[in-house]
Amino acid sequence: MNFGLYESSCALDVKKLFTDVFTNSEGEEEGNLIGNLAFELQETTDPRDIFGFLAKDGEIIAGCIFFTRMTFEISISAFILSPVAISTQYQNQGLGQKLIKFGINQMKNNDVDLIFTYGDPHYYSKVGFIHITEEIAKAPLKMTFPEGWLAQSLTSDKIEPIKGNSTCVKALMKQKYW
Ligand SMILES: CC(C)(COP(=O)(O)OP(=O)(O)OC[C@H]1O[C@@H](n2cnc3c(N)ncnc32)[C@H](O)[C@@H]1OP(=O)(O)O)[C@@H](O)C(=O)NCCC(=O)NCCS
Repeated sequence: MNFGLYESSCALDVKKLFTDVFTNSEGEEEGNLIGNLAFELQETTDPRDIFGFLAKDGEIIAGCIFFTRMTFEISISAFILSPVAISTQYQNQGLGQKLIKFGINQMKNNDVDLIFTYGDPHYYSKVGFIHITEEIAKAPLKMTFPEGWLAQSLTSDKIEPIKGNSTCVKALMKQKYW
């Protein structure tokens, strides 16, 4: 398995990966929603505000992950991990954790201070995330599942509270994802 930077020539393959994986795990509606999100993130985000990474088995895309910039009222380098998908036939073999750890390391190398995600606390605790409240950092939009608001600092042992509101990139700034 090879881990590397996302290539824009893969945009449609990546959309299909997210659509298929989420259709298999959560149904067609969710599959289309997340497939479109992955495509829109690639198409509409300033290249300085997005990092994508692929896990490839030869020419087969086995997994993909995106990180996009979050901004706060104070100056801090923060990104949100969303979405991530491992192709159905490659799931539950440790690949998701390897790809997430690879991505996080790349973010560290790019001087990112803080990473957020919004998902299953049990799964993401395996790769260093902890649950945070909005007293620590506000989410960009109202969350329907506040237990899933997670973060990890790449520069210190503790996550210091960040004052003020946050925003994320345009493609993610939609209530249906929160
Ligand atoms: C979630 C996902 C990225 C995990 O990657 P993976 O390579 O399958 O998982 P790993 O082998 O790294 O880790 C296995 C662990 O993850 C758990 N896991 C697998 N899929 C999961 C899911 N959708 N939600 C929560 N936990 C999940 C397994 O139960 C296992 O837990 P255990 O070690 O406590 O038994 C991948 O299964 C996937 O793409 N699933 C469908 C889409 C999805 O749900 N994406 C994440 C949205 S938050």
